[in-house]
Amino acid sequence: MRFKNIHVIYFSPTHTSARIAHALVEGMGITAYHETDLTYRTPDAEEHIDDELAIIAVPVYAGRVPAVALERLRYFKGNNTPAVAVVLYGNRDFDDALLELTDTLTAQGFIPFAAGAFIGEHSFSRPEFPVAEGRPDEADLAAAMHFGEEALAKLNAVTTFEDLSVPTIRGNRPYKAPRAAQAQSPAWDAALCTFCETCTEVCPVDAIRLEGDEIRSDAERCLKCCACVKECPTGALTFDTPFSAMLAKNCAARKEPEVFL
Ligand SMILES: Cc1cc2nc3c(=O)[nH]c(=O)nc-3n(C[C@H](O)[C@H](O)[C@H](O)COP(=O)(O)O)c2cc1C
Repeated sequence: MRFKNIHVIYFSPTHTSARIAHALVEGMGITAYHETDLTYRTPDAEEHIDDELAIIAVPVYAGRVPAVALERLRYFKGNNTPAVAVVLYGNRDFDDALLELTDTLTAQGFIPFAAGAFIGEHSFSRPEFPVAEGRPDEADLAAAMHFGEEALAKLNAVTTFEDLSVPTIRGNRPYKAPRAAQAQSPAWDAALCTFCETCTEVCPVDAIRLEGDEIRSDAERCLKCCACVKECPTGALTFDTPFSAMLAKNCAARKEPEVFL
């Protein structure tokens, strides 16, 4: 079945979801596509996606799709529009996130005929407590490209999109209850800061800003995505959480991508 265009949509503070989405499209042999990065802004208006193949990628936060990503994705409506759903998780587990993403897409008029869970460096990974450090790596990107090929073959095998089957996705309903997270945001070291303001630019929710001669972050707003920590060129921001050591210890065994077709 033919489609006119590919629309790649992602929320990806530390870029692993975006990288896998791009590898997947590359595997489909497609170079020109429409892209919406939901990381830094909420769409201005609802968008209807017809005659396009949607590729949608988001991270896993506490076994779920981050609420802010869901909020921003709600602006996209399909009309029996085929979609490939992807989640990126930090080598612990994706729990119910992929199921939540495919359920959400179905409710919005998409047909999530292919879905995959891939592994990305954990937001809380740091040199002394590495968790899936450097992932997605070459093998993950190759797996994403192969998944893209397989998804395209499934799409090309039907005559109408309505004939596409939705695979059974690993996960449970009701989804994992949201964890009562403690408000916390990265700590700032004035001595290391060059006031380049990269941190304020990469925050998905405007939780960090320059106030006078200080970088201040709002712990209530902070997603703990660690984009500011990972992108600070001088290491002036750190996010100290006991989860880093715990994850490095308990989630050291390499997990591999899982796809559902
Ligand atoms: C608040 C928070 C919660 C997270 N929860 C999980 C989780 O439940 N399981 C897991 O394996 N990784 C978890 N992660 C790690 C991210 O899913 C992982 O780093 C992902 O690759 C980030 O995607 P991005 O690079 O597109 O932002 C969490 C990260 C954050 C910031």
